[in-house]
Amino acid sequence: RVPVIIDCDTGVDDALALLFAVRHPGLDVRAVTCVAGNTDVDGVVRNTLTVLEQAGAPGIPVGRGAERPLLEPARPARHVHGADGMGDLGLPAPTRSPAAEDAVTLLRREILASPRPVTLIPTAPLTNIALLLRTHPEVTRNIERIVFMGGAVATGNATPVAEFNVWHDPEAAAVLLTAGVPITMYGLDVFMRVVVPGPEVHRLRASSDPGTRLAGELLAHRPTTQGGEPEAEEAGGLGDAGAVCAVADPQGITTRLLPVEVCLAPGPARGQTLVDRRPRPGESEIHEGRREQTLVDVALDVDVDRYVRLYLETVERP
Ligand code: BDR
Ligand code: CA
Repeated sequence: RVPVIIDCDTGVDDALALLFAVRHPGLDVRAVTCVAGNTDVDGVVRNTLTVLEQAGAPGIPVGRGAERPLLEPARPARHVHGADGMGDLGLPAPTRSPAAEDAVTLLRREILASPRPVTLIPTAPLTNIALLLRTHPEVTRNIERIVFMGGAVATGNATPVAEFNVWHDPEAAAVLLTAGVPITMYGLDVFMRVVVPGPEVHRLRASSDPGTRLAGELLAHRPTTQGGEPEAEEAGGLGDAGAVCAVADPQGITTRLLPVEVCLAPGPARGQTLVDRRPRPGESEIHEGRREQTLVDVALDVDVDRYVRLYLETVERP
């Protein structure tokens, strides 16, 4: 099994990602770490512990991480994820507490203790990951790859050009992209496309298994700003769970190794991931020379049916 650690801001679609990861037979979830993002970090910890209990995986260590981005204040997305940060489904409070260690310490220990190199799956702002890479750079020797949900080749969501996770902590994303480890970017371009059709969501909601039923409720969740949707439109996006599908089944995405840079300048482009898809150098390189840039495996296409099938067969597993 592939050893993985998920760093999340649970989060409706982070919860979908956790439910999938703990039920996939090819993945070994060694820890889950939490960071401020969709909601405050204590809310993220609470939601994460509850989801793991509902999924029947209450033993996985959960670490509490950064309360805010490296430079900016936290800017939660409660208008998308509800007042509790996870769809206000009225779920029970968790019965256990997070690990005594903070997220960065837990990440370091679990990565170095793993008998096989770990795949990190951040589905949240990259604050914990940046702190880890700067505090304990030796972890990179036992990291196989970092597959992160974040960024966008084309259109953003937090701003016209910036995706939420990168926008929330652009400096942290820049640390990740220059860390020298193999990176896959599962950005908005593919993230937005993987949608579970209404009838399947309906079936999950009717399940007698609490974890499967929760996946259905989360998929049916609509941002409060959109109001209630009729039954027939229960279709729901996998969101962050798609990044975990990309680890379980890498053949489902088409990637290209491309230079990626985060715009850190203040102003309307802050937090944009600039992905260079030009076939040949342009005038700037001809006149000023090529700048050193990190190459990232960028997901440009996704087999939607394949990931929807994979998700359903995994979360409906008893
Ligand atoms: C990302 O932001 C959050 O709202 C989601 O959980 C996802 O990780 C999408 O931009
Ligand atoms: Ca997330």
